[in-house]
Amino acid sequence: MNSEQLKKQVAEAALAYINDFDMIIGIGTGSTVNHLIDLLPQVKNRIEAVVSSSEESTKRLQALGFKVKELNQTGDLSLYIDGADEADAHNRLTKGGGGALTREKIIAAASQQFVCIIDESKQVDVLGKYPLPIEVLPMARSYVARQTVKLGGQPIYRDGFVTDNGNQIIDIHNLKILDPVELENKINQIPGVVTNGLFAQRKADVILVANHDGEVVKQ
Ligand code: A5P
Repeated sequence: MNSEQLKKQVAEAALAYINDFDMIIGIGTGSTVNHLIDLLPQVKNRIEAVVSSSEESTKRLQALGFKVKELNQTGDLSLYIDGADEADAHNRLTKGGGGALTREKIIAAASQQFVCIIDESKQVDVLGKYPLPIEVLPMARSYVARQTVKLGGQPIYRDGFVTDNGNQIIDIHNLKILDPVELENKINQIPGVVTNGLFAQRKADVILVANHDGEVVKQ
């Protein structure tokens, strides 16, 4: 199976978590989630509305006729489904390759169950091989970048990219993240940081992993 087929397969497996009526569910962002969105019409009768983590997902959802609500209107959600860039064996993740990390982190925090959908290429022993995104207020970009050098990383500005919140992204390369909770906290302490892409404090409750044997394994 190629990577798109694996993404579709794991997205299909996530539909089983949409198992109640009149659900308001959180929907993430990215190519794996795009497969999920395309499959959502199959369970449309169980979905009252969705809360979306990006303008991109919102557009796709609305085009399929789903009602997209603001998190401020809904209160906490029972379910959030999203992809990840990396996942370790403890369900800690890095996210934000698509730049939607801040809204993703907010929705994950506000959800009772976070189901993460990945293919096996995203599984790692130690997080950090994939560059760790940090959303920063524009005026703080260089300052934050210098602080991440002190943490052992190599910051690269995601040139020309503006987040849905009007901010900028720096991607931190070459981090070996041995203590994800500690690093998540440390980066959050840097003035000017809006969010970092470590999902270690609020990690996934369930990870569904599509592997090349054609199975979806639950972690
Ligand atoms: C979006 O900002 C990200 O957090 C995505 O969840 C992550 O990058 C996974 O995306 P893909 O499914 O496209 O790999």
